[in-house]
Amino acid sequence: MRDCRMRRGGSAPDRHEAKRGGTTMASRYHEIYDASRIDPEKFWLDAAGKLVWTKKPTRALDPEAGVYGRWFPDGECNTCFNAIDRHVEAGRGDQVAIIHDSPVTGGKRRLTYGELLVEVKALAANLTDLGVGRGDRVIIYMPMVPETMIGMLACARIGAIHSVVFGGFAARELAARIDDAAPKLILSASCGIEPTRKVEYKPLLDKAIELATHKPAATIVLRRPELACELIEGRDHDWDALRHEAMAAIAAGREVPCASMKATDPLYILYTSGTTGKPKGVVRDTGGHMVVLHWSMQAIFGTDQGEVFFCASDVGWVVGHSYIVYAPLLRGCTTVLFEGKPIGTPDAGTFWRVAAEHGVKVLFTAPTAIRGIRKEDPDGQLPGGYDLSQFEALFLAGERADPETLIWAEKALQRPVIDHWWQTESGWPIAANPLGLGLLPIKRGSPGVAMPGFDVQVLNAMGEQAPPNEMGAIAIKLPLPPGALPTLWNADDRFRDAYLTAFPGYYSTSDAGFIDEEGYVYVMGRTDDVINVAGHRLSTGEMEEAVAGHPAVAECAVIGMRDALKGELPCGFVVLKNTSQLDRGQIEAELITLVRERIGPVAAFKRVLVVDKLPKTRSGKVLRRTMKAIVDKDDYEPPATIEDATALDDIRRAVSGD
Ligand code: COA
Ligand code: AMP
Repeated sequence: MRDCRMRRGGSAPDRHEAKRGGTTMASRYHEIYDASRIDPEKFWLDAAGKLVWTKKPTRALDPEAGVYGRWFPDGECNTCFNAIDRHVEAGRGDQVAIIHDSPVTGGKRRLTYGELLVEVKALAANLTDLGVGRGDRVIIYMPMVPETMIGMLACARIGAIHSVVFGGFAARELAARIDDAAPKLILSASCGIEPTRKVEYKPLLDKAIELATHKPAATIVLRRPELACELIEGRDHDWDALRHEAMAAIAAGREVPCASMKATDPLYILYTSGTTGKPKGVVRDTGGHMVVLHWSMQAIFGTDQGEVFFCASDVGWVVGHSYIVYAPLLRGCTTVLFEGKPIGTPDAGTFWRVAAEHGVKVLFTAPTAIRGIRKEDPDGQLPGGYDLSQFEALFLAGERADPETLIWAEKALQRPVIDHWWQTESGWPIAANPLGLGLLPIKRGSPGVAMPGFDVQVLNAMGEQAPPNEMGAIAIKLPLPPGALPTLWNADDRFRDAYLTAFPGYYSTSDAGFIDEEGYVYVMGRTDDVINVAGHRLSTGEMEEAVAGHPAVAECAVIGMRDALKGELPCGFVVLKNTSQLDRGQIEAELITLVRERIGPVAAFKRVLVVDKLPKTRSGKVLRRTMKAIVDKDDYEPPATIEDATALDDIRRAVSGD
């Protein structure tokens, strides 16, 4: 674990009252948090009561069920019904549900709740006709188009479990997910569009199915106008052709009802990086997820029915699942689905253009996006060119929000900039500053205070609660609240080992940090091999497995080096089997290609250095922290247990290019 015994040094955190949005009223945070702590049953049953259930839950938590308890154990509901049908039945069918704004194609498309309902029913009918039913898995490997959301919601409608795979992952990663989830069907598209190239999904999909042991029975492929692709007869189906058939059947009276699901049934699986090369399949349940996202949309993000929310992430990440797709729709908001980048599509004003054009109330993005914008617009001139009169606040998450980025954004936008902390596992913010309950004073460098249901504590190595301001492992006292993962897909034991054994009675977040005397949490970094590259969670262990697969590599270590734009970038150090016969430059290039092909472009693995030996302890453990300090040009003390201190000189030489 990193520096967990260290006491926090430096000056007191910069504390200030937010200038706009939610600040006119005193914050109700303490009252609400206390209510959730004193009587969680009442608190969460009240929240559940705002939604439609086919069988209303009579209790909130069953502490005896599942690995650590299950939420709404006797409730039954359907997430798609609550996200779409409920609004249409209430007469809001003409309200816009999704705005697809795609500067990379030049397209803009609006779908009302009524239109969305028909699209979802059509795809749900197609899935049913292809044999997909309740509990079957469907992998979705698609770009940022409305059909991706339609796919997720169609699965939810019929009770199938979706698993969205981010488009920046390569075929082998997709294959690993196919083998773990064993999907009956895959939804995909001909291409995704990156600013400099079209990402041809179909060859990646074909390759992944070839590599995987499990073979899905069918695929449905959206052939985008930007790129054609061939379909394999008997397996692949054309999205539009199926859609037309189903639309005709629905027009002729075909019913596509919502399945009544147990609240504890899985809604989706989302794979995330862990310490090993094998990704973890985070399971999200149906009822708890629905209740908490509906609650959080207003309470935390201050956005309610009829208002516009813009989460500039990707549907392939948890942030996209929760706050592009499910939470805005459950709450009856309009969600912006943005297919572009914060810069270069066409410029660093694109977020502000989207916010102005669509009347966005709240924007949510990652600090790395703001750092990219700041680089292009250092004086923060661009927001001033847009009518941001509807815009109230900017939320940031995915990585630590450095104070310089926060200050730049506050100055440029003249709005509260709210850091908040969460994980794929939590599904919604663990700590935040709740706009909808009235903002607390913002302390830069802290993602705020614990949200209802999360009993966040800092523990020392003995598992005891650390005093305020003392660094330690951040853990959450069990049970986790609704919406957080109940387990890993088909892997209860792995779930226990990975999260629940380090501190009995707690969920270990694998983040280190401290909590101040006012309850503000400070998240300083991971305690495992996970690195955060441009807001993407990646495993260095997985990259090491890929690099070690090269025949010339004897051993290797991959560390996250600090980067001004992306937060961290992976840097590989390799020892070759026989350096004399090999061209180092060529090996380095091959390793970069290898990681790109194995994991995908999202790994951003572009730096690899050949060294004669890796620094190790006498027991053979690679000194990754010391290597990281050298790469980051931080001060360090060579550990007393080092086997051969000259290995550090080798690392220094490689880094400085001598
Ligand atoms: N499909 C295929 N390739 C993708 C992809 C996708 N969906 N997304 C990214 N890539 C590729 C990029 O094209 C790039 O490829 P290259 O090496 O050929 O240039 C590579 O993956 C690395 O991408 P990234 O590190 O994301 O850089 P970027 O310049 O493409 O984008 C940001 C920068 C800031 C826009 C992007 O990283 C981002 O949105 N980050 C936030 C992530 C997030 O939302 N996290 C959740 C918390 S909010
Ligand atoms: P992911 O599962 O991709 O959402 O990544 C979760 C990890 O990102 C967390 O465990 C943290 O290490 C990091 N993270 C997310 N949000 C924040 C934040 N606001 N501050 C610091 N770290 C964050």
